[in-house]
Amino acid sequence: MSEFNNIKGVLFDLNGIVTDSWRYHSQSWREVAESLGITWSAELEEAIKGRDRIDSLNEILKVGGQLNQFSDAEKEQLADKKNAIYQNMLDKMNPDDILPGIHNFLAELKQNHYQMIIDSASANAPKEIKKLDLEDYFPLIVDITKLKHNKPAPDVFLKAAEMIHLKPEECIGIDDGVVGVESINAAHVVSIGVGDPKVLHEADINFTSTKKLTLENIRQAWPK
Ligand code: BG6
Ligand code: MG
Repeated sequence: MSEFNNIKGVLFDLNGIVTDSWRYHSQSWREVAESLGITWSAELEEAIKGRDRIDSLNEILKVGGQLNQFSDAEKEQLADKKNAIYQNMLDKMNPDDILPGIHNFLAELKQNHYQMIIDSASANAPKEIKKLDLEDYFPLIVDITKLKHNKPAPDVFLKAAEMIHLKPEECIGIDDGVVGVESINAAHVVSIGVGDPKVLHEADINFTSTKKLTLENIRQAWPK
């Protein structure tokens, strides 16, 4: 494992780390799932957190026992329906939706010359960063639509490190989802899981809230 002092860049998941938009994704998928007669549950919600659009739909259909009932074109329509619901919610997004502690953390990172990039699984990430007024901090966003494999594969975090010209071991990745933490670990980036430590137990470092994200807290929590 790298030393804290070797870290030069921080790779940020968006939904659930920078902003609270995960609940909007979740609500939109719930509407689609229930329209198909599939019961929503906390387990299903956790299983799709951080997965891309089609992977999320497939997971929902699998849990509902309907995976083989739709053609690819019909699945596209269902994914479009979810995205239309999500877009309505996104239109109201503004800087008040930035999660607690994030502004201070970003300012601290910038002041200390760390590189920063967004590595979200969401094709809506550029729009969200604009709505949140965070373009100065995040001029760089990985284009998820160009990658072959999504989280939990390491591609998005490897691409993020490459885009800020750092080696994976010079970076920290922060995510709130199990598949996100798996993706960070597979990329050999130091992982910070934000959320329930029992759920995110594979992370190198756990914080229960984005409020805890400071350089000093990370340094203190660094695995020995
Ligand atoms: C991730 C969310 O950030 O983006 C997932 O955690 C979502 O829930 C995924 O499915 C894809 O988002 P979008 O906006 O491309 O449908
Ligand atoms: Mg997330």
